[in-house]
Formats: sequence, structure tokens, C-alpha cells
Amino acid sequence: NLPSPSPPVLASDWRSLRARNHEHAVNGRVSGSGYSWLGHFEWPPSTTSCMKGEPLSSELEPTVETPMVGKSVITLDDLSINQIRELLHKAQYIDSHRKEVAHTCEGRVLATLFYEPSTRTRLSFETAMLRLGGKVIGFAGAQLASVTKGETIADTLKTVSNYVDVVAIRHPKEGAALVASRAASVPVINAGDGGHMHPTQTLADLATLQSRFGRVTNLTVGLCGDLTFGRTVHSLIETLCRFGNVNFVLISPDELKTPRYVLDRIDATPSCSYTEVKDLVSVIGDLDVLYMTRVQKERFFNEDDYLRLRDTYILDEAKMTKAKPDMAVLHPLPRVNEIAVEVDDDPRAAYFEQVKNGMLMRMALESSVVGDELPGYEPLEAKEVQA
Ligand code: NCD
Repeated sequence: NLPSPSPPVLASDWRSLRARNHEHAVNGRVSGSGYSWLGHFEWPPSTTSCMKGEPLSSELEPTVETPMVGKSVITLDDLSINQIRELLHKAQYIDSHRKEVAHTCEGRVLATLFYEPSTRTRLSFETAMLRLGGKVIGFAGAQLASVTKGETIADTLKTVSNYVDVVAIRHPKEGAALVASRAASVPVINAGDGGHMHPTQTLADLATLQSRFGRVTNLTVGLCGDLTFGRTVHSLIETLCRFGNVNFVLISPDELKTPRYVLDRIDATPSCSYTEVKDLVSVIGDLDVLYMTRVQKERFFNEDDYLRLRDTYILDEAKMTKAKPDMAVLHPLPRVNEIAVEVDDDPRAAYFEQVKNGMLMRMALESSVVGDELPGYEPLEAKEVQA
């Protein structure tokens, strides 16, 4: 009775639109109904080039890099690899120059529009702006906002654009952040849209891989748990494919496998590969990274299915004895049962480091999209910037 993996209705660029078209065409589920609340948008999109047999290459980088200032980030595909590397570099600088950067965004205001529960992501976006000297407005829980009176996302964003310099939005519907960015006159950052994408969590994940391994490539990355609805998994795979040379081990029960449009992304990346397995213990010894995820209760239609699947994987110290001595355990958090608390003391546990990295990466991103230079910061030299 599980809903089938639901490809997002909207995506932010031509690559995703093509993937979406493909999925809908293959599954015969082309339909825009049920999303009318999003306001007017074109569906199915007119970009049907994937149906004309063009490769869905994820290794194609945009030839023209658009500036960070004013940029909305709906998926990390909105940033070039160089820009992602620059953000990683900036976050490191921020960490070691907290005082120097504390006034960078004075006079700026961030709005956090959270239509879905959050602890880390919202507080992290807000702390990031406060630590840069800016201010924050917003709501956590749509019941307090005009959406309950029937306001569309577009109208909310046209309104909030008058108040603030940058918006972070979280919404339960796939595509909502894109709709928001089209209506807004300030940059919009996707803080999670349904089961689609979560680009700033991926920035936190990349920073954690970089600090643990000194690289984000040449890794065997196991992703375990709810790979259907886990938006952090979709964002991470999308982005690691662009960096290349990653072997994905996708560990899930049959009901929670990775959506086709995400697998297409790996298939389209010659230097990346994947295997799908059900058993964690049989593959844990091969992994450099184990990315655990929570079963996304809120995206199930049926509570019995959730209860049946929620404890499929529980990482404990007994399983950790079979893992490499330098494997890194990541988790976007919140955890429910999928990592036993005893693992927290294992030096391989990196999930609270991810939290810190998330704040630093959001500081880097927020200051960049509003266009405020960090005092004393020297950008990466073009020659250093190599994927
Ligand atoms: C994740 C999310 O919201 O997608 N949490 C987060 O932002 N750190 C993961 C989850 O909720 O399971």
C-alpha cells in the first residue's frame, strides 16, 4: 500500500525537468492535478529533450557560470562545482575567523518560512544569519501563517520579498521551493521540499566528507534506510555524481528503494556506479561512508507500513565492528532508532560534526547570495579549483 516513489512535480533546471519528464512518461503518470495550490505552472514542461534521446549527462557542467549574488538554490545543480568548492573553502575560513565575520551581514534580514517541522535546519539557517550580524524573521509551522487562510506560496513570497534579503523555505510538497523562487524578488534557498531535495544538508554532508577524508570523490558511499522519501539522499547522490568517482551502495528494503530519476543520474555518470542491496551487515565492511536515514513517517499513507519498516536497520556497535576503522557514519538527523546511542562515542560517528558543518555552510551560502564579502577572505584561486 506504499505510495510509489513520487518524482517531484517540478525541478529547478533542465536536467531535472528532463529526468522528471522521463519518469512520468515511463510510468504513465503525467499529471499536474493535486498541485493547483502551487499556482500556475507549466506541466508537463515543454522541455522534452530526454524523450528525443539526448543523454541525461550529469557530468555536463553549465558552460556559463552565473554569479552567486542573488542566486536561488533549489537543488545544488543551481551552483557550479567551483561555487560549491568556494563555499566549502569559505566555511572553513568562517570557522577559524568567527569574530572577523560577525558583522558581515549587518543590516540584512533572513526569512525562514517553514511549513514543515524542523529543529536543526531552521535553527541553523537562523543562527547562520545571526552569527553574520544579520536579523531573522519567519514562522515555524504553517498553522500560524496566512496559508491557512488560503494564500498561495507565490503571494506569500511576493509579500515577504519586500521585507527581507533572503528566504529559506521548507515545504512538504515537492516543487514548492521552485515555485517560491519564481515568485520572489530575493534569493530563495530550498530547506527541503517534500521527498525531493535538501541542498543545504548536502553542503553539510560534503563539508563533513571533506574534513574526514580530505576529498569528496573516490569513495564507496553506503546510503541506508528510506531511500525513496529521504530527500537528503537524493540531493547527496545528485551532487556526488557531479564530483564523480563514487561507488554507491544503496541499502534499503524493497518498499523504500531509490527513485528511478535518482538512479538515472548515477547511470548517466560514467565514473559512478551503484548496487542495490537489502542487507547492511553484508556490505558494511566495504564502505568508506555509511549514510543512515530515518524512515520518513510523514510521507507514508499508511501507519502499518511505517511501523513495519521503521526498524529495518539499526546500526549498533556490534555492526560497527565489521566496518573499516576509518569509515564515517553520517546521518542528517533527527534519528529515531536507526543508530543506537552507543555509536555516538565511536570516533567514526560524524553526525554531530555534520550539524556544525551545516551551520558553517549556511553562513557561507547566505553571505554569498546576499553579496556580502567576508572580511579578510581570499577566494580560491581559479587554478586551485579542480573537481
Ligand atoms: C532531514 C530532512 O528534514 O529531510 N533532516 C534535516 O534537515 N537535517 C532528514 C529527516 O528529517 O529525516
